[in-house]
Amino acid sequence: MPLMQSPALDLEKLALEHVVPRLLSSGFCYLDKFLGEEIGNRVLERVRQMHQDGSLKDGQLAGHLQGISKKHLRGDKIAWIAGTEEGCESIGLVLSVIDRLVVLCGDHLGQYYVKERSKAMVACYPGNGAGYVRHVDNPTGDGRCITCIYYLNKDWNAKVHGGILRIFPEGGSRIVDIEPIFDRLLLFWSDRRNPHEVQPSYGTRYALTVWYFDAKERAAARQRFKRLSESKEDPPAKES
Ligand code: OGA
Ligand code: MN
Repeated sequence: MPLMQSPALDLEKLALEHVVPRLLSSGFCYLDKFLGEEIGNRVLERVRQMHQDGSLKDGQLAGHLQGISKKHLRGDKIAWIAGTEEGCESIGLVLSVIDRLVVLCGDHLGQYYVKERSKAMVACYPGNGAGYVRHVDNPTGDGRCITCIYYLNKDWNAKVHGGILRIFPEGGSRIVDIEPIFDRLLLFWSDRRNPHEVQPSYGTRYALTVWYFDAKERAAARQRFKRLSESKEDPPAKES
């Protein structure tokens, strides 16, 4: 069935009645049976293929550990996908639906104005006990405001396979555990409000992540990067 006709997918209703209120009250929100079995299966098939053909490479850390592979801190294998690549149509479709959802949340997200996003990060934790230590996606104001993760794992049993995403919402003693189950879409604020970790995973764990940018914060971050790279290019003036 074409997506637009799917009765299960009233995106405007989802945006206004679920996503917006939950993001504003709790800082995160998830939606189950987001795209349905058929589309979810197509995405899963593609991601499995990428894993099997060796397209996924070790994830890297940002900040002062940038570029260094530290598998004990972050053990996923990833690829960045635009969704327009040959064979990646299903990923393009997921992205377009998430885009529509986020656009529909649009004006209701307080101070944010979202008009760009990253490519999709296809990620696989291979099931060898690797996870991702507690971190904040955007601790430095790089522009990312919403993290969206679409999970692809059928018959996931967290008691056996681990792989829980644990959020430690800022300023509370509360923790939130989210299982990475098939066709679940999770959204959360990317900044310091949501430190989170991926617990050791003992099954092959697939997910697709996109980050949406706040226009203002992104523009400011771009200016900073630009100034930084200019100052690196100009050798410091010698004192006479
Ligand atoms: C990340 C991350 C969480 C997950 O890649 O930054 O936190 O559940 N992933 O895969
Ligand atoms: Mn993260």
